[in-house]
Amino acid sequence: MQDFEGKTAVITGGASGIGRALAARFAAARMNIVLADIEADALDKAVTALAERQTRVIGVLTNTMLHESILELAQRAIAEFGNVHVLCNNAGVASTTSGGRPVWETPQSDWDWVMGVNFYGVLYGVQVFVPHMLAHGEPSHIVNTASLAAVLPGGGSYGVSKHGVLALTEGLQSDLASRGANINASVLCPGFVNTLIFAAERNRPDALAATGPMQPEAQAMVTAIAENMLAKGKDPAEIADTVFEAINNEAFYILPHPAWDDIVKSRVEQILARGGVATTDMTAVLRRRDAGEQF
Ligand SMILES: NC(=O)c1ccc[n+]([C@@H]2O[C@H](COP(=O)([O-])OP(=O)(O)OC[C@H]3O[C@@H](n4cnc5c(N)ncnc54)[C@H](O)[C@@H]3O)[C@@H](O)[C@H]2O)c1
Repeated sequence: MQDFEGKTAVITGGASGIGRALAARFAAARMNIVLADIEADALDKAVTALAERQTRVIGVLTNTMLHESILELAQRAIAEFGNVHVLCNNAGVASTTSGGRPVWETPQSDWDWVMGVNFYGVLYGVQVFVPHMLAHGEPSHIVNTASLAAVLPGGGSYGVSKHGVLALTEGLQSDLASRGANINASVLCPGFVNTLIFAAERNRPDALAATGPMQPEAQAMVTAIAENMLAKGKDPAEIADTVFEAINNEAFYILPHPAWDDIVKSRVEQILARGGVATTDMTAVLRRRDAGEQF
């Protein structure tokens, strides 16, 4: 897709971080913007900031965990601007309350929340918007936000959800291509980006409240990652520029952090070696980060 002016972009998780930066990038290309988010105050602020820059923008309070909420989002977007051309299924969360617990002790509420937003939210976006894009037939593009966690070993509920987004998006792109659709897809797999993802608990539904106290070592690890990795991660605006270029060039895999490449490669090699399980050596990552590489 190369023609952006006057076209419409819908961005979930658009009130903060990467989603908000994507909206600013699309607005700079003179697109109409539909921001969807569960956090009302942040959504209002993001909409106001874009409107002040003469962007045609609406905000739609949306819970991407719910299929009917995404349906309403599509109806609002189409009623306001007509055809939708870019969809960023970007809303995502990470549980910071069960860090350090083994897989079998991770609370069901964590699995339901993290899979609900990170995986099912993306799936519902695809189910609702692809038929609309197929029907209008104009060039369109879908960007699903996964994470580098989609290509690294393990990662708990977050890693599982992001592996799912990668597989879903690969299937989506090949199904679109085999039907000759005028739609392309991309999967975004960033390393650390300086956003509020580690404060995602602010948006956890009461019905899926965290269970049990957080172990002190796990809390310390979360704080350390937030302070050492996230706060020193890439600027969301840089990620948004990379995504915009990928849409323009119809690139499928978007990996804005090449420092991880050799680590991803070694995971694949470990799988093909048919030996023991692959792991990520975070101490080595921290050492290399301190030496100036951007993870
Ligand atoms: N920040 C990173 O280092 C990083 C790295 C890799 C991938 N990601 C992914 O990037 C995406 C964006 O996250 P971010 O880093 O900008 O974090 P962020 O917390 O700054 O933004 C996420 C947005 O999603 C919204 N959201 C949460 N639950 C929602 C729901 N149920 N319905 C609608 N909106 C909801 C939040 O309100 C927030 O505005 C996520 O999918 C995340 O997993 C982030």
